Amino acid sequence: AALTQRRPSTARASRDLARAVECKSQFKVALLGAAGGIGQPLALLLKMNRYVSDLSLYDIVNVPGVAADLSHCNTPTQVKAFNGKESLEAALEGADLVVIPAGVPRKPGMTRDDLFNTNASIVQGLIEAAAKVCPKAILNIITNPVNSTVPITAETLKAAGVYDPKRVLGVSTLDVVRANTFVAEAKGLNVKDVDVPVVGGHAGITILPLLSQTQPKVNFSEDEVAKLTDRIQNAGTEVVEAKAGAGSATLSMAYAAARMAESVLAGLSGEGNVYECAFVDSQVTELPYFATKDIDTETTTERKLRTSLEAHFSEDLTSKKQVISEEVKRYLAEADARAN
Ligand code: NAD
Ligand code: LMR
Repeated sequence: AALTQRRPSTARASRDLARAVECKSQFKVALLGAAGGIGQPLALLLKMNRYVSDLSLYDIVNVPGVAADLSHCNTPTQVKAFNGKESLEAALEGADLVVIPAGVPRKPGMTRDDLFNTNASIVQGLIEAAAKVCPKAILNIITNPVNSTVPITAETLKAAGVYDPKRVLGVSTLDVVRANTFVAEAKGLNVKDVDVPVVGGHAGITILPLLSQTQPKVNFSEDEVAKLTDRIQNAGTEVVEAKAGAGSATLSMAYAAARMAESVLAGLSGEGNVYECAFVDSQVTELPYFATKDIDTETTTERKLRTSLEAHFSEDLTSKKQVISEEVKRYLAEADARAN
């Protein structure tokens, strides 16, 4: 079943279109961190994706086993294994989409920022290779802290002279997936129909669910808004604590990343009416990076988002902006320090 979220009014037309383009658009996807907790189930979902003709699995360990296992699934997608740093560039060759869940996950008591030191350099190294080998590929950044790894990706691409802001997408889809699930549960709705835009960043209070824009239209009491917002913002921590030291969300993240990948590939194959919220280089607010819907051609939607965001978060907006700005500023300072 297609994972991509489409505008409800034209969902049927889009499904028909999807069938029409089936098998006509085939893409190569490179998955970096493929042997990890997210990487393995995500590799399976990508092997099942009708848009993916070639799937390159890259990790610094354990790829041959994952690839051998996966290659026995009788779907048309061709799987290749790339194990170890020396095979990174070969893994990226010809990639249309590069999906990056490489890096360490949180343990209880940690914030996503605590992963910065380890994961920043992992992402930087992977992006340097992508800049060289597949500068036109779309990059989906899953590695935390997304609020910092996306600016790192942008700066690394800028340094290589190949930065195109439209190609760098911080994956915040899991926030949308969670918001849809929790709202459907709370309101007794069919989860398949529910679409909650989640904007901002991907950490704690920077995760901003726009409950007033939920589709279908739903009314929430102030208490419901407070409880649902708190649960959506802390859902990652809910999983980290439940896993009790064994890592963070992997299965729901693989699902969310597969949805994001499918949306990107649907877009690349020319399908209209596909959108996702993603943490991107943005002019919607004064922040340099901000997740919104894909509002490329829709300035009225953009205006609506900003108005709704301000209405929802008027009291805290300034402090939330500061939180993201601080993260970005710290990154830039650290990147400068590394360069010198
Ligand atoms: P994991 O430890 O299970 O897997 C990470 C994988 O990355 C491992 O297989 C490891 O070998 C590999 N790796 C490490 N360094 C690498 C390198 N230089 N090149 C290639 N691969 C490398 O962790 P996980 O649970 O899969 O989580 C991965 C990352 O995703 C973490 O940073 C986590 O915080 C993040 N995450 C993000 C979201 C989101 O919503 N964006 C959700 C969940 C997890
Ligand atoms: C999540 O939201 O589940 C991820 O960002 C992982 C984490 O550390 O919470």
